[in-house]
Amino acid sequence: MRRVRAYAPGRVNLIGDHTDYTGGFVCPMAIDLGTTVEGQTGGAVVRLTSADESDEAFVPLTGVDPLAMQPPWARYVAGVVSVLRPTVGFTGHVHSTVPPGAGLSSSSALTVALALALGFEGSPVELARLCQQAEIAGSGVPGGIMDQLTAAAGVEGHALLIDCSNLAITPVKVPLAAEVVVVHSGEQRRLVGSAYAERRAQCEAASAIVGPLRTAALGALGAIDDEVVLRRARHVVTENARVLAFAGALGAGDLSAAGRLMVESHISLGDDFEVSTPALDALVDRLVGMRGVYGARLTGAGFGGCVVALADARAVDRGVGWHVRPMGGATRS
Ligand code: GLA
Repeated sequence: MRRVRAYAPGRVNLIGDHTDYTGGFVCPMAIDLGTTVEGQTGGAVVRLTSADESDEAFVPLTGVDPLAMQPPWARYVAGVVSVLRPTVGFTGHVHSTVPPGAGLSSSSALTVALALALGFEGSPVELARLCQQAEIAGSGVPGGIMDQLTAAAGVEGHALLIDCSNLAITPVKVPLAAEVVVVHSGEQRRLVGSAYAERRAQCEAASAIVGPLRTAALGALGAIDDEVVLRRARHVVTENARVLAFAGALGAGDLSAAGRLMVESHISLGDDFEVSTPALDALVDRLVGMRGVYGARLTGAGFGGCVVALADARAVDRGVGWHVRPMGGATRS
């Protein structure tokens, strides 16, 4: 028996949503909200209690169907167990400061911390790939790799420009003067599973016609007859360009340009990708109308959840939302 403590951060995506699963670009950062899994190895089950859950997760090492597990949070635990296949069990406790259902990847913070606690050995990219598979197994949603990779590979003081075609990571310094504020729209995310899978299928339909969206020219999208599929593809192609421009602007300390790109991203996610909601739109408008706020956009999958804003240090009252800092990735001790 060995005592283990593993920690993984949540993440906020500054720009680049619904681009990761098409091999495009994203620019998230790991944040100073995270999840700790603490306990000891031993036995033939993984048994976890959580500060946020009334029922424990009790997962045998073999023979479980993650999607059938109860309580629901145990599905992620079972997802990690089914993909990692540890030979020794674990008994411990989960404590998290990542708000669930907000779009800050509480699930990735859990799976990444848990995989480390259960003995994962390998690179951050390998850890992210494993946890992506674990989350797909536990949720049934065909998610991309952005969240897990950010939790695994965060760099303190930096956002990560990730090329999802080869998972190359370029850290981008976040200017000290910049404040990143995450504000909840008041709507829990909903319909995320089915609508997410539908968006992903529409992107695949587009690339079956025009080739990989990562390299498709905007002008080539005219070959797509279906108007909805065309708009989905237009979001992805323009969003990839915005991510690269954003990383350049942020790294150069040009917060005005970076903020403008965030607003353009939000509009594209609403009009072309149709994952915004009236509450998210109203919140973006409210934030962007404040002096010292450079830009704001929905962050993550959409359909509710949070907005992220880029602002001057004292522009947004400290009592509003989460004022988050760019942090390093997951650790184990
Ligand atoms: C969710 C998924 C990510 C990504 C975003 C949208 O957070 O887990 O992989 O696709 O939605 O950008």
